[in-house]
Amino acid sequence: MKPVFADDAAIEYAANLLRQGRLVAFPTETVYGLGADASKPDAVRRIFQAKGRPADHPLIVHIPSVDCLNDWALTVPDAAYQLAARFWPGPLAMILNKKSEVPLVVTGGQNTVGLRMPDHPVALRLLHAFGSGIAAPSANRFCRISPTQAVHVAEELGDAVDLILDGGACQVGVESTIVDLSGNRPKLLRPGQITRRGIEAVLQTELMIGFPQSNQSTMRAPGMMAVHYAPVTAAVLCATGQLPEMVQEMTAHDKKIGILALSRDARIASIESSLIRVIRMPGQAEDYAQTLYTSLRELDSLQLDMILVEQPPETEAWRAINDRLCKATSVFQPLFGLLT
Ligand code: TXA
Ligand code: MG
Repeated sequence: MKPVFADDAAIEYAANLLRQGRLVAFPTETVYGLGADASKPDAVRRIFQAKGRPADHPLIVHIPSVDCLNDWALTVPDAAYQLAARFWPGPLAMILNKKSEVPLVVTGGQNTVGLRMPDHPVALRLLHAFGSGIAAPSANRFCRISPTQAVHVAEELGDAVDLILDGGACQVGVESTIVDLSGNRPKLLRPGQITRRGIEAVLQTELMIGFPQSNQSTMRAPGMMAVHYAPVTAAVLCATGQLPEMVQEMTAHDKKIGILALSRDARIASIESSLIRVIRMPGQAEDYAQTLYTSLRELDSLQLDMILVEQPPETEAWRAINDRLCKATSVFQPLFGLLT
């Protein structure tokens, strides 16, 4: 499936495909989504088939405006209106109790529904042309890296999608922040560009944290590894100080490696070898996020033995990136044995 430039005619055509229960991939500011009419269970089922995604993984419903919250949510708490007023359109998804009409196939069988108004001109034009909610997970196969360009969607899904709207490269580059407002206390389920502090400042309350904290010092057994967002090539996170030694060790064993480098460490900057492809990542978190998945995808396509990712700072600004890197990699120690 070749992506088509998202002009008015393509968007009108896309909205018609959605009305017929077909699948349309479209750009958002975070990553590309694989969309279907959220009110049609059969259409939504096709998303799960195309991605190879288990049926109990709920989807986010994309809506054209704040006013549509009431169409999907049973009740809309003040907190949701406050966050929407501050961050929508934008990379924030909110989990609310669902109306009974919302198909259970959308919510993975749960009584809550994820809602988001994306901040991308193509996504917004499509939502307005369609006029209702579009259920859309990231447009990748299950457990693979999310697509941030139209061509990635074509690589991931081929003809399993009926149309791919091309709206250029995604600005944010990592998936939306998810905050759960369905319970008594707001809870952060997935970190993203909109930070915990940003949300807490609006809600004037502390967020509970609903996702595992990254802990590099703990060895994770392979069975326990989070597999989301993972490249096919083995990827490991390593501290800046460890990197030169590890590179030497790997190349001494004739291993082909890719490196996502961050620091300006002279020893890393001077690495040159036919066995090594180094991508120098931007030093600012927002710029790093924007190119992260494209860079991982590039390294993953090179048939390398291993990808080494230099550990970014463990500060709030880098939280979403560290979360995704943690899921895409394993710690170095358990894999060290592979060399011998
Ligand atoms: O940035 C994004 O959110 C992108 C773009 C396309 O909007 N979408 C995205 O969708 O990342 P997906 O399906 O790859 O991730 C959605 C996440 C999943 O981890 C899912 O478990 C969670 O949202 N989610 C959706 N509905 C939920 C619900 N009712 N309760 C708890 N988690 C939910
Ligand atoms: Mg996804």
